[in-house]
Amino acid sequence: KAAPAAHASLAGRTVTISAGGTREALDPVRFLGNRSSGKQGAALAAAALAAGATVRFLAAHMDVDPPAGVELVRVESALELREAALKAAVDSDVVIMAAAVADFRPAEVSDTKIKKVDGEDAPVVRLIRNPDILHELVERRNAEGGQQLIVGFAAETGDAQGDVLEHATAKLKRKGCDLLVVNQVGIGRVFGQDDNSVVILSGHGAEPQSAAGTKADVAAAVIDRVGAELARVFP
Ligand code: CTP
Ligand code: CA
Repeated sequence: KAAPAAHASLAGRTVTISAGGTREALDPVRFLGNRSSGKQGAALAAAALAAGATVRFLAAHMDVDPPAGVELVRVESALELREAALKAAVDSDVVIMAAAVADFRPAEVSDTKIKKVDGEDAPVVRLIRNPDILHELVERRNAEGGQQLIVGFAAETGDAQGDVLEHATAKLKRKGCDLLVVNQVGIGRVFGQDDNSVVILSGHGAEPQSAAGTKADVAAAVIDRVGAELARVFP
């Protein structure tokens, strides 16, 4: 494995990072959520700060505190994150979507707490699709011809349709982002863990790059690669 490259500077750059897991309301007290801890996103923000960037941190639900020194925006749902991301991205040099965005939200949100009623059937929750924020960011960047590097994250498992890298390569194409950071999810892996192992795929033809170690190690490698790719794609 090659030694990590010298830190590519992000001095003077603005980096927007989303992190944590969105929560999709069912009623005033209940939501559908996911197991994202926000640890990798927080580590990315710390690494971007260390590389000299101004960091806008869009935090969905997290188990850890965002690092000090970021411009913090708290969000709850995918729709709130979408609004915050589209706004923050306007004058960002880099956007990193590390948040676990719910693919679906309840079609109806009750204004009042849902009650159980004796003798009645349990309610059925109908879900509808959330917008794809990453895809929307890419579309807008492309339409405006902006010099903005857009980075996605993907947790993949291999299945009958293909292995992790095949799924990830297809996702990179589908999303149209510049970099896709891929980790392999399994029982007890990635979610809430302190260590991580990723492959960074480039939409611009560079070789896949592996990085492993603590989430801080992985974050440093990703931010380093972001700096390098930014310099290469938008010189
Ligand atoms: N993402 C997003 N908006 C969504 C869903 C995902 O911006 N509604 C972003 C995530 O933050 C991540 C990337 O897209 O950076 C990939 O997320 P992932 O869930 O792996 O992609 P999906 O297209 O939702 O594919 P899948 O059906 O495998 O979940
Ligand atoms: Ca998804």
